[in-house]
Amino acid sequence: MRRAILTMSGCLVVAVIAVGAARGQEKPVVEVYKSSTCGCCSKWVAHLEEHGFTVKAVDVPNINRVKEIVGVPEGVTSCHTAIVDGYVIEGHVPAEDVRRLLANRPPIAGLAVPGMPFGSPGMEGPNPEPYDVIGFDEDGELTRFASH
Ligand code: CU
Ligand code: CU
Repeated sequence: MRRAILTMSGCLVVAVIAVGAARGQEKPVVEVYKSSTCGCCSKWVAHLEEHGFTVKAVDVPNINRVKEIVGVPEGVTSCHTAIVDGYVIEGHVPAEDVRRLLANRPPIAGLAVPGMPFGSPGMEGPNPEPYDVIGFDEDGELTRFASH
């Protein structure tokens, strides 16, 4: 079990339990760390819920600190950072890719959709663009997990 305690500004303390008893369940809880003012983050939360995930959204004052602690490589950061069943999910990753990740359990640290590409879940709009879902490991090694 990997466990990190985030001490944020003020007295807010958030415990991130990266791998817990939920491992192996069909619908593990997705913990989403985001800024309270992030509209596209809330839309991504809704996207996950629509696809059957149970989501626990946590507003934090400094989302970049969360990314540092859970080890999101600098080049692939986005708005929100989530933890599910031991994996880190950075940005607007489609629910289908999260599901495939949890089903196949590849030896990576997590998935990221860098930036906030138009057309990704939560970033819908008139001008969708192609984007990749990137797998990253703890050394910052990147691989392509999916293309949309
Ligand atoms: Cu966003
Ligand atoms: Cu977001």
